[in-house]
Amino acid sequence: MPLKLPNIIGHRGAAAYAPENTLESIQTAADMGCKWVELDVKLSKDSVPMIFHDDDLDRTTNGHGPFAEKKFEDLRDLEAGSWFADGFAGIKIPTLEEAIEVILQRDLGVNLEIKPCPGREVETAEAMLDVLSQIWDDRDRLLISSFSHVSMETSMDMANDWYRGLLLDTEPMENWKELADYLNASTINIDGRTATRELIDDIMDTERQILAYTINDPQLARTLRQWGVDALFTDDPDTVTEDMFKAH
Ligand code: G3P
Ligand code: MG
Repeated sequence: MPLKLPNIIGHRGAAAYAPENTLESIQTAADMGCKWVELDVKLSKDSVPMIFHDDDLDRTTNGHGPFAEKKFEDLRDLEAGSWFADGFAGIKIPTLEEAIEVILQRDLGVNLEIKPCPGREVETAEAMLDVLSQIWDDRDRLLISSFSHVSMETSMDMANDWYRGLLLDTEPMENWKELADYLNASTINIDGRTATRELIDDIMDTERQILAYTINDPQLARTLRQWGVDALFTDDPDTVTEDMFKAH
């Protein structure tokens, strides 16, 4: 059974409107009508799964240096909102558990992208799935993905029946079909900004759903829809909308 996906998935919540990967960003995506959000998961030094994108703290917090070197308590002391806008000052990096709480409250589906700090590919998947196994039971509203094949393999071993999406980089690896078969991936998640029609045709031939990141340009969104992409990750759900998939 293919996963039932909306056409639009809020990227890192609604990253154009609120600081990415925060509870406020998830709430904003829900307020803007998103049915699903995408979030990045990595581990604190003491192995708490948290929602964060970069390997370093500098861009999106008032901290410095590698995320991987900070324990949960240190990460909690950081401020993750004012880099985006003063009105968001004081907000914190959320744990996976806190993010899932909001997702459940707002009745959303979620694509959890495992984004391990270097060398923690197995542990990140394990810790994420441990938490999830205690608080999540809706198979139809969860997609697990990663650029890390090791994290994907760990997910397959630990939670085989949860949907998996194989993330392809801007330059897709040559053996993506074999890998998708091996990982039993239900979806292929491509870089829609650089993807060719040929790649999309090739994926369609494998009868997998196609998701494209990160599309904030409505013209590109229309082109990808015409080429057969099923769902788009967007920072800007006001500009790239479900209506585009209804229009002919
Ligand atoms: O999962 C889709 C997209 O989020 C992948 O790229 O770097 O934004 O996590 P990135
Ligand atoms: Mg991501």
